[in-house]
Amino acid sequence: MKLFSSVNDVTDINALVAEALKLKQNPYANQDLGKNKTLGLVFLNPSLRTRMSTQKAALNLGMNVMVLNMDKEGWALELQDGAIMNGSSVEHIREAAAVLGQYVDIIGVRSFPGLKNRAEDYNEEVFNKFVKYCGVPVVSLESATRHPLQSLADLVTIEELKTKPRPKVVLTWAPHIKLLPQAVPNSFAEWMCKADVDFTIAHPKGYELNTDFTQGATITHNQDEALAGADFIYVKNWSAYEPYGKVLPGNEDWMLTNKKLGITDNAKVMHCLPVRRNLELSDEILDGPNSLVVHEAGNRVWAAQAVLKTMLESL
Ligand code: CP
Repeated sequence: MKLFSSVNDVTDINALVAEALKLKQNPYANQDLGKNKTLGLVFLNPSLRTRMSTQKAALNLGMNVMVLNMDKEGWALELQDGAIMNGSSVEHIREAAAVLGQYVDIIGVRSFPGLKNRAEDYNEEVFNKFVKYCGVPVVSLESATRHPLQSLADLVTIEELKTKPRPKVVLTWAPHIKLLPQAVPNSFAEWMCKADVDFTIAHPKGYELNTDFTQGATITHNQDEALAGADFIYVKNWSAYEPYGKVLPGNEDWMLTNKKLGITDNAKVMHCLPVRRNLELSDEILDGPNSLVVHEAGNRVWAAQAVLKTMLESL
C-alpha cells in the first residue's frame, strides 16, 4: 500500500481489521520491520489522538518518528502553482513536500478543510499536493473530506465488540456551536457502507452528506426511528454540505441522552473525540456503562499499526 487516504485504498477491509486485532494481541511482533525506517508526521492542524496513536504504532513497529507542527513551526505554505510569492507565504508546497520526502520513508499528513470553498476542500488540494510532491507513501491523518485512520479504528471497535453477526450501526448528527468538517461522518459512512453491518444515518433536514459517501446507507431525519434496535450509535456533529460549511439554527434536542438510549438494543455509544460535554454528548452517556469512547480511542493504535505495517511491507 502506497497511499492510505480512504477505504478505497484498502484491498480487503476485513483482512485489515483482522490484522489490527492481531497486532493488539501482540504489538511488538514486527519490530524488525520498521528498523531504520522513519515516519514523518506533518500537522497543519491540532491533534491529540491521531498524533499519539500513530507515533505509538510506529514505535511498536520499530520505526523512528519525526513530528512537524507545520501550522506553528513550519514556513507559511504557498499552494497555488504559478503564484508570485510576494505575500505572506514563504515556501511552496512543491519544495516543502519534496524535501520532507528526502528525510522520511512514510509521511502522515493532517490537513483540515477551510469550509469556505467546497470545490477546493472536496478536491483535497492540500493533501493531494503532499501526495504528488513528497515522493514517498502517504497516510492521511485526516484530510478535508475523510479521516480513514479513525474510521478503521471505529470498524475495529465494532468488530471486536459486536454480539450479533450483522449489528445495526447508527450514525447520528449531534449539536455543536462550531463549524465542524464532514470528514469524520463522510469517512465513517463510506467504511460502514463497505462493512457487514446494517447502517443508518440520522440527521436533521439540511445536514445531508455528499451522496458519494453514503451509497447503501438508510438515511432518515427521524432520530428515534433510527435509534430503534441499534447496537452501536456513532455520535458526531458536522456542518452543512449545502449550503456549504453552515450551522443551521435549532436541533439542540438531537443530543443523545439515556432516555434516547432506551430505544436502542442497549447500544454502545461511540464518538471520535474530542467531544463537547452536554452539548454534543451528555455526561450521563459519556460516564455511563455504554460509552466506548476511550476504548475506541485506544484502538486508534492498532488501526494505525495495521496500516503502517502494510506500507512497510511494500517499501
Ligand atoms: N479523533 C481524532 O482524530 O482526535 P485528534 O483530533 O485529537 O487527533
